[in-house]
Amino acid sequence: MGSHRIAAIPGDGIGIEVIAAGLRVLDALAAAEPGLRLQFETLPWGSAHWRATGRLMPEDGVERLRAFDAIFFGAVGDPRIPDHVTLWGLRLAICQGLDQYANVRPARILPGLRSPLAGVGPGDLDWIVVRENSEGEYAGAGGRVHRGLGEEVGLDVSVFTRAGVTRIMRFAFGLARTRPRRLLTLVTKSNAQRHGMVMWDEIFAEVGRDFPDIATDRMLVDAMTVRMVRAPKSLDVIVATNLHADILSDLAAALAGSIGLAASGNIDPERRGPSMFEPVHGSGFDIAGQGIANPLGALWSAVLMLDHLGEGRAARRLMEAIERVTAAGRALPRDLGGTATTDQVADALIAALKGAND
Ligand code: NAI
Ligand code: MG
Repeated sequence: MGSHRIAAIPGDGIGIEVIAAGLRVLDALAAAEPGLRLQFETLPWGSAHWRATGRLMPEDGVERLRAFDAIFFGAVGDPRIPDHVTLWGLRLAICQGLDQYANVRPARILPGLRSPLAGVGPGDLDWIVVRENSEGEYAGAGGRVHRGLGEEVGLDVSVFTRAGVTRIMRFAFGLARTRPRRLLTLVTKSNAQRHGMVMWDEIFAEVGRDFPDIATDRMLVDAMTVRMVRAPKSLDVIVATNLHADILSDLAAALAGSIGLAASGNIDPERRGPSMFEPVHGSGFDIAGQGIANPLGALWSAVLMLDHLGEGRAARRLMEAIERVTAAGRALPRDLGGTATTDQVADALIAALKGAND
């Protein structure tokens, strides 16, 4: 048990609401866990900062983040600013600046919750999607030529490097090793895209030789969507590119119950700097300001953060509190079929942490 300095970046919209709820629950957790100290510093970065200064975060923002042990992030996005400006100006700037190359996204049906898939219950869907988080389709390579003219060209170039692919494969195989089933599924589109995607297939096979205890299989991304819906039990750990895993993990979240539940960690496995933990969802323009956002995705992300910080016991305690709240079913937010507000869900979590019978 130790003391950890954590940067909280609520960002925009419902990001602000779920991080406020998250900090309240984490303070209660730290108070209940002897020896655990979580020191939060809230950084007011995001769209309001952009309107005031022309930047989503200060120019030395990434350098300032290096002083922290972890980052707890909400979401960024504002209807008045183009999405690519907000996403690149904050979230992607941090992930790439700190080389958080492994994006880990668990999806599981929690006790008491229902999948939209008929006949699929807890235990039938338990996945971790590993998303390459530093290059690929979101490398940022490309440009616009002859802007506004009839000849205009727009290019987004996917960049796959042997170093980048090898390190995400090593991470995914290592993660599969920590799971009882020891199964890793590779997702590509190497029938239609015959350069970078074929290199992904080759490097998967090469790295796999160092992990003979891990069972493997391969899917094309289009067929993978069908398998996720038709045979969820046949999957365990999944590794895919930045774009493919972005899309598949939203599907995974919906199949597990709601996008509002989905958690993620942007991990630097080498621990050269802080990793960043955030719900998968965005700033929720349609429900922002109403106090009804589901905070469980943010709090499940906090579970991943505590685990990364070596606080396994506190992580388990928080996950158990989340599962007690979903199992009891009395304080569920609207996206999970209940009527509880963001604050009421947080209150129920705090009660569950204290062992109250809810
Ligand atoms: P979104 O995830 O914000 O919302 C999609 C739908 O899911 C909406 O109907 C929303 O109400 C619902 N939803 C999402 N989270 C929820 C929660 N916690 N509780 C209840 N309902 C929830 O995605 P959208 O609308 O595509 O994007 C909105 C903005 O967020 C855009 O600016 C986008 O660029 C940004 N974005 C930012 C991300 C990040 O910062 N990591 C990730 C995804 C989107
Ligand atoms: Mg996404």
